[in-house]
Amino acid sequence: MKIAILSRNPRLYSTQRLVEAARARGHTVRVLDPLRCYMAIAPGAFRLRYKGRELSGVDAVIPRIGASVTFYGTAVLRQFELMGAYSPNPSDAILRARDKLRCHQMLAGEGLGLPLTVFGDNPDDTEDLIGLLGKPPHVVKLNEGAQGNGVVLAETASASRSLIEAFRGLYANFVVQEFVAEAGGADLRAFVVGDRVVAAMKRQAGEGEFRANLHRGGRASPVRLSEVETETAVRAARIMGLGVAGVDMLRSKRGPLVLEVNSSPGLEGIEAASGVDVASAIVSLAEARVLEAGRGRPRRPRRKHRA
Ligand SMILES: Nc1ncnc2c1ncn2[C@@H]1O[C@H](COP(=O)(O)OP(=O)(O)O)[C@@H](O)[C@H]1O
Ligand SMILES: [Mg+2]
Repeated sequence: MKIAILSRNPRLYSTQRLVEAARARGHTVRVLDPLRCYMAIAPGAFRLRYKGRELSGVDAVIPRIGASVTFYGTAVLRQFELMGAYSPNPSDAILRARDKLRCHQMLAGEGLGLPLTVFGDNPDDTEDLIGLLGKPPHVVKLNEGAQGNGVVLAETASASRSLIEAFRGLYANFVVQEFVAEAGGADLRAFVVGDRVVAAMKRQAGEGEFRANLHRGGRASPVRLSEVETETAVRAARIMGLGVAGVDMLRSKRGPLVLEVNSSPGLEGIEAASGVDVASAIVSLAEARVLEAGRGRPRRPRRKHRA
């Protein structure tokens, strides 16, 4: 197959691993900077060009679209989709997952567990809004934050109020949640590919920190997920429409609580912690789906038996 990896940086671990895995499985693979792809849109005719050359015949696209290029990156991915390429994470699913509020609404709509979450616009409603959450601490989160950026712990109701006012003053969308203390500064990352969890890790926040993100100094270790945790992660990815997802959950007395569903989960931490070749699992999902849809031209077609 001809595979394109949409990534701003070919030197990133995740990008390199996907390239390696695709080559090892006999595919032609190219890393494309989404910001250098440009497109022409006409009725029933879609073109993509890259640095002055036409892009065509791509069977599968593996998007690694960072939060800072969501708009342009998903437009490029959509163009690939319109040109018949398969993507494990469709452009619409990436857009849905980037919006934490929307993600929570969709997951709660299907009955999945999540921390109680509130959201409101008018300052006059702040008091009542905070009241809906119950006692502090609360967690205030930028709606489109990532890697623990913009996730703040408010120990008192007045801290919650100040944070909400500050975020409003910056015209930033945010959600406010109950703080799940019993998670003990740890969270679970389940890496879903297709309809199964291929790898999982537990992340423990560093000293004096409640965010377990590896970018915030969290320590990863391998973990065995319970049946409910596995099922929750797979359902969360399916509800969001993602074929590849990093589902973050907290362990609580009420069972697993989903924090977010990442559409471009990093491979480095999870491969190191679990020892699983996650990159190959992703490429193999793309192979299976492309063959199913009959649009692929496998490089090494299987010979028929000539017995
Ligand atoms: N409601 C909460 N209760 C306890 N810890 C939380 C809560 N929300 C987030 N955290 C911690 O903060 C981290 C980052 O939050 P998350 O919602 O995943 O945002 P990001 O997109 O920035 O990773 C989580 O991995 C978890 O360790
Ligand atoms: Mg997270």
